Amino acid sequence: MIQRPRGTRDFAPKEMESRRELEAAFRSVAERHGFREIATPIFEHAELFTLKSGPNVIEEMYAFEDKGGRQIALRPELTAPAMRFFVNDLTNYPRPLKIYYFGQCFRYERPQSGRYREFFQFGAELIGAPTPESDAEVIGLAAAMIRTCGLTEHQIRVGHIGILRSMLKEAGVPPEQAPFILQKLDKKVYEEARPLMQQAGMSDASIEQVIRVTETTGGIDVLDSFPGEATDYLREVFGILEAYGFTNVKADLGVVRGLDYYTGIVFEIDAPKLGAEKQVCGGGSYSLTELFGGEKVFSTGFAIGFDRVLLALEREGVSAKEHKVEAYVIPVSDAMRHQAHVITASLRNAGISADVDLMRRSIGKNFKYADAIGARFAVIVGEKEMAERSIALRDLSSGEQILVKVEALTEEVKRRREVGVRVRCGGEN
Ligand code: HAM
Repeated sequence: MIQRPRGTRDFAPKEMESRRELEAAFRSVAERHGFREIATPIFEHAELFTLKSGPNVIEEMYAFEDKGGRQIALRPELTAPAMRFFVNDLTNYPRPLKIYYFGQCFRYERPQSGRYREFFQFGAELIGAPTPESDAEVIGLAAAMIRTCGLTEHQIRVGHIGILRSMLKEAGVPPEQAPFILQKLDKKVYEEARPLMQQAGMSDASIEQVIRVTETTGGIDVLDSFPGEATDYLREVFGILEAYGFTNVKADLGVVRGLDYYTGIVFEIDAPKLGAEKQVCGGGSYSLTELFGGEKVFSTGFAIGFDRVLLALEREGVSAKEHKVEAYVIPVSDAMRHQAHVITASLRNAGISADVDLMRRSIGKNFKYADAIGARFAVIVGEKEMAERSIALRDLSSGEQILVKVEALTEEVKRRREVGVRVRCGGEN
């Protein structure tokens, strides 16, 4: 048997239904916030990612040479492709340009629960406005998406990478070494970060000060310990988030992010139920356009780890409604097969999900099958009944059976079917 590659997954119908439902909920929230969808290729020139994504991403990239000798990479994320697309084709759009995307990404990581080699991101970028309003708009969108999908246990942490960047710069760290230090600080592996900072020429006092910043987390008042432009800016962002109704946001100056392009605010959302891989969303403000041959334009964005949100919802016991056939049509004899197909078509054309015996089974086996697929109704096409243009409609959950005229069948099914109860994805925000 050929197995699927490590770190990839297949999705059964039930899983796809949950995935599509979550996707639809995210889409609808993004569109209500004025974001519009884009799509970019699954593979790009590797250079797009090696230029600025930082050591984490480069180490994990699926890169290869194509038949024309070009260095190609499967996209590890979608921000760089979105910015390339913007520089190539979208610069004439009115700004701020608000876009969102959904698609798979590839990272050669060690697979474990919540960490895959092929995974899906739902993300958004707001291009062209370096203001607290834009940053709050983006954080607010991420927060609304997580809230709307029904994930009750989550934490939103917002910081400002400018604070650490300027501390490293002032302490004399050469720019090319900073990403390696930040990478270790992001993972909070201080025992590895300390020697790197020492090698970069930092004094013990500045090393301890940097570590103190990364451990600063709590209510907005923790920002008072580090007065300056960055913390003033953060306070403004928190104020706008409050106006949008998000009061569950924490300040955390230890948010460093694994990618190297961030310059201003940075934020993460965690779902503690997920354990080690608890980060379900990450983002921040950055500028990449000048690197890709365009003018410098500031953007803010985020990506939600779509698979992790599903996992977290599952752990909270939230599940999507399964799509089941509503009416299963059973011809009682071969002579009734043609009629059964006509009736199936009329149900389908009326918007009812309908199926019909395709295996030439006996009536008993057909009932068993209808039960196995969870059909709500059986429509039994019998010779005697059809002679009077009637048909038997059986409610498979109650066992009740009635005779209805063929012309009245679709209306009767519609009247009797329950309106699907959507378990999540209500109308909130
Ligand atoms: P990121 O933090 O690298 O950011 O990824 C975003 C999210 O993708 C993570 O928070 C996590 O939930 C999910 N994720 C990452 N790697 C995996 C994996 N191997 N398996 C499952 N889920 C994973 C970015 O990618 C940035 N482009 C976000 C951004 C957009 N910043 C600005 N705009």
